[in-house]
Amino acid sequence: MTSNGAIALTRFLIEEQRAGHINAELRLLVEVVARACKQISVAVGKGALGGVLGDAGSAGEASINVQGEAQKKLDVLSNEILLEANAWGGHLAGLASEEMDHSQPIPDSYPHGNYLLLFDPLDGSSNIDVNVSVGTIFSVLRCPEGVTAVEDSHFLQPGTAQVAAGYCVYGPQTTLVLTVGHGTHAFTLDREVGSFVLTVRGIHIPEDTKEFAVNMSNQRFWEPPMQAYVGDLLAGKEGPRGKDFNMRWVASMVADVHRILTRGGIFSYPLDSKCAAKGGKLRLMYEANPMSLLVEQAGGAASTGRQRMLDVQPSGLHQRVPVFLGSKHEVEAAVGYHARHDTAA
Ligand code: AHG
Ligand code: MN
Ligand code: MN
Repeated sequence: MTSNGAIALTRFLIEEQRAGHINAELRLLVEVVARACKQISVAVGKGALGGVLGDAGSAGEASINVQGEAQKKLDVLSNEILLEANAWGGHLAGLASEEMDHSQPIPDSYPHGNYLLLFDPLDGSSNIDVNVSVGTIFSVLRCPEGVTAVEDSHFLQPGTAQVAAGYCVYGPQTTLVLTVGHGTHAFTLDREVGSFVLTVRGIHIPEDTKEFAVNMSNQRFWEPPMQAYVGDLLAGKEGPRGKDFNMRWVASMVADVHRILTRGGIFSYPLDSKCAAKGGKLRLMYEANPMSLLVEQAGGAASTGRQRMLDVQPSGLHQRVPVFLGSKHEVEAAVGYHARHDTAA
């Protein structure tokens, strides 16, 4: 405990190790990711003064990632910060990122560890240039036994196999939210001291909510059960749900999920006819799965609309899925609309 009674991330992790929840290697891994997030937070905070705004690429040519999306300078920089920080510590066997076509094994010049790290280095890219919250999302898996040369296929484990997951949101405050499978906890960055301090131990998402998050501009492209579900939310007190709902959409998953962990709600990026061929908009391995573990560990629920998210067997590193997560009863309600629709069909 420091003089003001604060528990730093370092102490929290040592206590998790003593409790048998993590080993020293996983503790190091989380510390390294947290340190990289501090660096990203500094870069994000500099904005135009640091020359980090705008698109990546050169000679007027936009840089395009494997998703077919134009990369921002901060997407590329954050990816580099995470790669560099995690290369040499000896805690990883390999890494995979939204911004890289394929996974990368740890170079042979460094010792290899037992874990695999996946990340969305900068989530909410469309908000970078307008000074709205963005973040980093990460997921940790065990490297399968006996693997010496890590390939993409070794990452294709269901969300239930995650040994840790978290995100860092760069907003008015920089907050790291973490689970190692024993609850979900929040740490606020003390900018003067430079350390993450435990500010919420054991987050609990209220089971019921009156707030939903979805990009309503996609309404006409949604599937019938989603149309029916949101139609009933909008009908409010006079409708079948019997209460008025409020709506929020930051368009940074980290910020929307952080609000839900703080005060409840349902977040949804459903299937729509624009993204149906790709399976959805959000990525399973480094967006949906880590967020789903954090939400479940906080007493919430996470689903594709038709299956528990953490049970999805991945088929590709950059696989996309429909996402419904947040307050348990509200996610169950959304899933119910899909089940009734599918049964009737
Ligand atoms: P990323 O910036 O990592 O590509 O992710 C953006 C995602 C997610 O953060 C957000 O919920 C969603 O895209 C917003 O999508 P719309 O712009 O379609 O609302
Ligand atoms: Mn993202
Ligand atoms: Mn991203």
